[in-house]
Amino acid sequence: MKKIIVAIDGFSSCGKSTMARKLAREVGYVYVDTGAMYRAVALYCKRNGWLTPGTMDVAAIEANIGAVRLEFRLRADGSADMWLNGENVEQHIRTMEMSDGASRVSTLGVVRREMVRQQQLMGLGKGIVMDGRDIGTVVFPEAELKVFLTASAEVRAKRRMDELLAKGEAVEYDDVLAKVKERDERDQSRAESPLRKAEDAHVIDNTDLTPEEQQEVLRELFTSTVGG
Ligand code: DC
Repeated sequence: MKKIIVAIDGFSSCGKSTMARKLAREVGYVYVDTGAMYRAVALYCKRNGWLTPGTMDVAAIEANIGAVRLEFRLRADGSADMWLNGENVEQHIRTMEMSDGASRVSTLGVVRREMVRQQQLMGLGKGIVMDGRDIGTVVFPEAELKVFLTASAEVRAKRRMDELLAKGEAVEYDDVLAKVKERDERDQSRAESPLRKAEDAHVIDNTDLTPEEQQEVLRELFTSTVGG
C-alpha cells in the first residue's frame, strides 16, 4: 500500500493531537506533534530569561535558535516524549504558560523556518501523520491528505479546562475561554504562516461529534485517499 503524508491543522484544543495520534497508531505511521516543538522552544526561551509573561527578547532568540536540539523519543508504550537538548521536557511543556509562550515564539520567522526545516526532514520517508497550524499550507503543501479540524471556542475551552484540572492546575472557565480566543486571534493574524485552511483540506467540525465519530470520519478519508 502506498505511504502518504497526513497533514492535520486547526485551532488549539480541538483534539487534533489525540485524533492524529490514534490514526497513526491504527495505520502504523509515525506521529509528529509540531505544537510540542514550539512549546519546547518557548520553554528554552523562558529558562534563559528571553520570554517572560510581558516580554520577548527577539534578538536573543534569533541568535540562539540554532542551539535548540529537539527530538521525539519513543516510550515503551509507543507514545513519544519531547526532549529538549537531552532532557525529557514532556511534563514541563503541557502547561497554560507554555501554550501561551509557544503561541508567542511561533510568531517569529526565524523560529518557524527552523521548525519547518526539521519537520520536512521528518516527512521525507512519508508514512507520517503531523499535526499543527501550517502543515497543509507550508510544511507539506503536497500532502496527499489534509484535514482542518475545528470546534466552537466554548467547547474547546471546556475540554482544555478539564485537561488542566485533571493535571492539578487550578483554572477558571472564563480565563481559559479568554486564552483560547486570544490564541485563536494570534494564530490567525500573525504575519508568518498564519493559521488558515488549505484550499484542498477536508474540514471536520467536531463540536457535536463524539471522539469515535470523528475518528471514523478521519479513517474513511484516509482509506479513500490511500486506496484511490
Ligand atoms: O498545538 P499546540 O497547542 O501544542 O500549539 C502551541 C502553539 O504553537 C500554538 O498556539 C500555535 C503554535 N504552533 C504553530 O504556530 N505552528 C504549528 N505547526 C504548531 C503549533
